[in-house]
Amino acid sequence: MDQLLELCDTEICPKMEQSLPLIGDAAPEFTASTTNGKIKFPDDFAGKWVVFFSHPADFTPVCTTEFIEFQNNLKEFEKINTTLLGLSVGGLTSHLGWFDAISKMQNGTNITFPLIDDLNMNVAKLYGMIQAGASDTHAVRAVFIIDPNGIIRTVLYYPASLGRNMSEIWRILVALQTADAFGVATPANWTPGDEVLTPAPTSASELREHDKKIPWFMNYKKLDKKEIYDKICKKNAETK
Ligand code: BEZ
Repeated sequence: MDQLLELCDTEICPKMEQSLPLIGDAAPEFTASTTNGKIKFPDDFAGKWVVFFSHPADFTPVCTTEFIEFQNNLKEFEKINTTLLGLSVGGLTSHLGWFDAISKMQNGTNITFPLIDDLNMNVAKLYGMIQAGASDTHAVRAVFIIDPNGIIRTVLYYPASLGRNMSEIWRILVALQTADAFGVATPANWTPGDEVLTPAPTSASELREHDKKIPWFMNYKKLDKKEIYDKICKKNAETK
């Protein structure tokens, strides 16, 4: 056994330095300094949905467009009980300098959501955001969508050259909350107002009533946009 452990200290079996949190896992805990002060994650965010995202570097063009768009959409995220948390391998001086530069751009934007100081890459490695094929020293564009109970519900990764789509992140949040609130699933390209999918029939009588023009395992149901927002926003207002 000792010999095996020794082998695992060599290049034959390099030590696993990163963890890779997956859908259904509890969000790994950490404490960190951010541009808005110290945080204990996920405890400080309990009761809220969180979009926890990383980006490769401050003072870079694609990241700048993303931060402006995250900020521009902050109110829409807040309406669905969602808060934003950013991370990059950089210190607070760099982060705040970059925010200052963004605020001085044409139509300047003040970034108000927190960005983590992760110069030592501890949090990035805890969340599998350092991916050697892309870079050993910069985070990929990762997105973890974490629910109000601190459970990871969606994970997305993008390369450095590809800026994220705010509408898609918002759609994922509404779809997850709709699935939770109504016990349904959402089909390809779904947006609120489109039909949703319900579970397959579980009894002979349900099967007899099923629309014979489509296969028995496909069950569509209308779900009004207003019904969704009423339920999600009411539920979110109650948990505030
Ligand atoms: C960018 O945000 O533009 C960027 C960052 C890192 C590598 C390439 C592009």
